[in-house]
Amino acid sequence: MGLKHRGILRIAYVRLGLNDNRLTQSLNFYRDRFGMLESMRDSERAYLRCWHETFQYNLVLEQTAENQLIEIGFHVRDEEGLDHLTNKIEVAGIQVEQSAANEPLNGMGRSISFTIPGGQRLRLFADMAQSGYVTGFESPDWVTPRELRGTAAPMFLNHVGLTSADPGATIDFLSDVLGFGLSEKIVSEDGKRLSGLMFRMCRDVGGQELAIFPGEDGHLHHIAFTKEDPNDILVIGQYLREDGINIDSYGPTKQSYGNTFSLHFFDNFGIRLELCCGGRNIDAHPESEPVIWDESELSKALSYYDADVNPGFLDHSL
Ligand SMILES: [Fe+2]
Repeated sequence: MGLKHRGILRIAYVRLGLNDNRLTQSLNFYRDRFGMLESMRDSERAYLRCWHETFQYNLVLEQTAENQLIEIGFHVRDEEGLDHLTNKIEVAGIQVEQSAANEPLNGMGRSISFTIPGGQRLRLFADMAQSGYVTGFESPDWVTPRELRGTAAPMFLNHVGLTSADPGATIDFLSDVLGFGLSEKIVSEDGKRLSGLMFRMCRDVGGQELAIFPGEDGHLHHIAFTKEDPNDILVIGQYLREDGINIDSYGPTKQSYGNTFSLHFFDNFGIRLELCCGGRNIDAHPESEPVIWDESELSKALSYYDADVNPGFLDHSL
């Protein structure tokens, strides 16, 4: 791992398919109550972004017959990196599909997509239209835009949790083929990897962009968004609760695994979302070692204030 990142730079978006006529319910949640900005709309999709984001979208919603995670998009440094990764993925025996610019999503250069060992689909691209900060680049105010105050108003897409029947195989693919680092892992008594936090760290995301959890292949565990600090999350938690949003039974907590202050809750389709701040920043030098959590410390890892593991917490939500 070099200090200057090549290949994948950052997580860019999550694309969800929802059984939602004209996306009415999902826009009511993600735009009007959760507080994302609608960047674009076409006949099939709505493209939303966080207010502190320069890319055009972090969340793509489209109407499908069944609720599903369609794909997760990652930004690659350059076209050369995209070709290099295409080759590596194919050598690993995984089929790669090539897509032309603006296919299937607007505002994106050419891309590749493929299925990781855990069954989820990733898309990589090197070129994405930039909307710029909603506050502008010149002398910005850096405050939550007035129209979003009172909503969760997330700043960034932070990380995505996925479930995998063989977390070790998924972690190996993400590390060896896609070049992710492993910042933390949970291991079973017999030494099997049950979970891993994978990072690229081109920005301050607290040591994870993908979190791999044990479970059924092909599913989404949660989508996490960045807030500035715990106070922010506590206040937003009250707004969400007042709005009738289903808060996860842990409540606001320090999540030792990843070292974030986090609040987990559910959208109106039952998809688990997280607002988090902080996170363990990793100095990605070549001798970096992951933090290791033994399965017997699972309750401490998932919620520092809770003695018992919330049994439903490890279930996938989509
Ligand atoms: Fe998380």
